Amino acid sequence: MKSLMMQGTQILSTGSSVPDSSLSNDQISQIVETSDKWIVTRTGIKKRRLLTGSRKSVIDLAVVAALKALDKISMSALEIDLIILATSSPNDLFGSASQVQAQIKAFNAVAFDLTAACSGFVLAMVTASQFLQSGSYRTILVIGADVLSKWTNWSDRSTCILFGDGAGAMILQSCLKEFNQVLGFQLNTNGNHWNHLCLSYEEKINPHPILNVYQGSFKYISMNGKEVYKFAVSQVPLSILKCLHDLNITINDIDWLLLHQANERILTAVANKLSINANKIIVNLNNYGNTSAASIPLALDEALDQKQISNDDIIVISGFGAGLTWGTVIIQWKC
Ligand code: UT7
Repeated sequence: MKSLMMQGTQILSTGSSVPDSSLSNDQISQIVETSDKWIVTRTGIKKRRLLTGSRKSVIDLAVVAALKALDKISMSALEIDLIILATSSPNDLFGSASQVQAQIKAFNAVAFDLTAACSGFVLAMVTASQFLQSGSYRTILVIGADVLSKWTNWSDRSTCILFGDGAGAMILQSCLKEFNQVLGFQLNTNGNHWNHLCLSYEEKINPHPILNVYQGSFKYISMNGKEVYKFAVSQVPLSILKCLHDLNITINDIDWLLLHQANERILTAVANKLSINANKIIVNLNNYGNTSAASIPLALDEALDQKQISNDDIIVISGFGAGLTWGTVIIQWKC
């Protein structure tokens, strides 16, 4: 039932899932001309997980992450009102969220996909918090999941070393304003530079002979790494500063910096620009690579499992990537 009262957003639980199959840098160096040393030095990545085997998709990872989040708080999936699946590697271009809804038996939930690549989880969290704070829905499952291994050109050494597969989930619920944990956000898009990182639709040369309709298919990820690097290091700190300013929070108040896990050098450079101590950076990309929309909830779930995060900690979360799209959401953790 709709309530007109503005409310807060509580984070109830997180969960994550990665495939079993692991691919080390040494193994990649048997496929393309690269080395463990080059990859570790330039990115910090040591290995990544890949979804192998036939008929496996992003849905399988998303379902496991969601069920783990539900299980942690013994919540029935029937309590979920809305599922937002942030993914750019759906199993169905019409959307994969409905299949997640069916598989976890969240039969009361509306479900839709949100496509924003590596910023997807931040955008999905913000979208969810709007529905909660307006009183439209009570309980929302947000999932960030991607299987970019399916869209990677495994003969392109400049991209294939970066990505890995995974999923992370978060359950959010409306609450009284005084218990609000999603403090604020700041979002941006610059479509002029979409071609720095894209997975574009490619037309066949010839159209349908009668209809003049050009059909085609999606091919591989294409990236200008240097430009994406410069964009991330210059724009992410600005987004964080704007968000902090709006909330009257200082750099010293930040307990954790949780950035999209793209490249360890980007994480360090952003922290340095903001004068945030390196020991406040949450990092797990060494083991998983860049898992796109999954990277933030996967890293958060691991940090929580490892009891890194304490009650009342302020966590600055930023996503950035294709679009180009980037943004920040600041949360306060409650145990
Ligand atoms: O979610 C956002 C996703 N995207 C990103 O986060 C990408 C951001 N960008 C980056 O992380 C970095 O630009 C990369 C890690 C992708 C590349 O690092 P870089 O320091 O910018 O290297 P580069 O592209 O300038 O390449 C330097 C050299 C080149 O050789 P030459 O021209 O100097 O002879 C490349 O051909 O390294 C070569 N190179 C490689 N060598 C060994 C490129 N890829 C590889 C490789 N192994 N895998």
